Amino acid sequence: MDEVADVVIEAGRIARIGRDAAAGLSGEKIRVLDVAGRWVVPGFVDLHAHFREPGYEYKEDVASGLRAAAAGGFTGVCVMPNTKPINDTRAITEMMMARGRAAAGPRLYPFAAATVGSAGEQLTEMADLRDAGAIGVSDDGKCLMNAAVMRAALEYARTFDMLFSQHCEDHDLTAGAQMHEGHVSTRLGLQGWPRAAEDVIVARDLILAELTGARYHVAHVSSLGAVRLLREAKSRGLAVSAEVTPHHLLLTHDALIGFDTACKVNPPLREPEDIAALREALRDGTIDCIATDHAPHSPLEKQCEFAAASPGMIGLEPAVPLLLDLVRDGLLSPMRLVEALSTKPARLGKLEGGTLKAGSVADLAVIDPERRWTISQASLSSRSSNTPFLNKEVRGKAILTMVAGQIVYES
Ligand code: DOR
Repeated sequence: MDEVADVVIEAGRIARIGRDAAAGLSGEKIRVLDVAGRWVVPGFVDLHAHFREPGYEYKEDVASGLRAAAAGGFTGVCVMPNTKPINDTRAITEMMMARGRAAAGPRLYPFAAATVGSAGEQLTEMADLRDAGAIGVSDDGKCLMNAAVMRAALEYARTFDMLFSQHCEDHDLTAGAQMHEGHVSTRLGLQGWPRAAEDVIVARDLILAELTGARYHVAHVSSLGAVRLLREAKSRGLAVSAEVTPHHLLLTHDALIGFDTACKVNPPLREPEDIAALREALRDGTIDCIATDHAPHSPLEKQCEFAAASPGMIGLEPAVPLLLDLVRDGLLSPMRLVEALSTKPARLGKLEGGTLKAGSVADLAVIDPERRWTISQASLSSRSSNTPFLNKEVRGKAILTMVAGQIVYES
């Protein structure tokens, strides 16, 4: 729906929604939030973020990550298992869940590793991990390269109804790679990461997804070839899904010309024709949703020579203003933006929220599309500020975030 309406929230749920739905309500126990002129949206749900607890809390812990999520309008965040140790056991999943509950902010949904140590050899105890709270499995940061192990992992994920999110990278084709393989990598003298390394894994995985019937999801799609493969698979009715990040929708390999390590990400920033394909695929639903791949790193990992820098950029707080730029440029409708940030990822992950329908849980955000602010270390709730948009003035901000009827962020 896209209309002017009242939203009535009672006992953590949306009681009613519609024009004048709050008419006649009065009393001391009622709190009225007047957000006229702003957008009330179902809270955003991120299918792909990295919090660094346990192991690298100096970059981000669960509490700081959830504060950043709330400040970005997110009411649910799925976190990847590449912590230290890797989240491949019940104990770590339970610890993350406990930290999430203690933070009393957005909902935390761990992805557990698909293989022990994300080493790609031995499957994890998926039933145990699911019972502990993991909503899916992924070896993100690494690709599950062995096709036989991948087939078994998909069969087990299907048995336990877990989403399988794959980081699609043929590591043999990307050995030593620092950035997208193209004319910029040639000029800079940096080893390239060819699109084909993504495409061959997507092609193989779609075949294995068809074989197993698993809920298979492509993480951070970046290449036009992967888009083509997904479009073909979906046209045949395969129930596979995919996400794209804001940075892959907005930046190309040109951003690396000055060796800016803030723009070093994995998969790498590619070329204008990839961006065009990603935007088109997001518009037509070939790419289901937007995920941030929020990847906090400290100056230790970023203020160094390019080859030594860790890949990734933060994404939870910059997402709204960056994506609103696409809306302002007429490249994405506001309705599709909200669907891709909320309704679709919630459904794919089988998670709470993603809707403002009467009776559903009151997970929502209020967006001021005109609010101007500067992305800076001081304005960010994240413990890290590794983004090429640092110290840039942007337009658009979540000004209120609510989880189960409780305000978890207001500005
Ligand atoms: O850019 C990235 N950063 N890509 C990944 O796959 C991993 C992530 C991280 O953990 O920093």
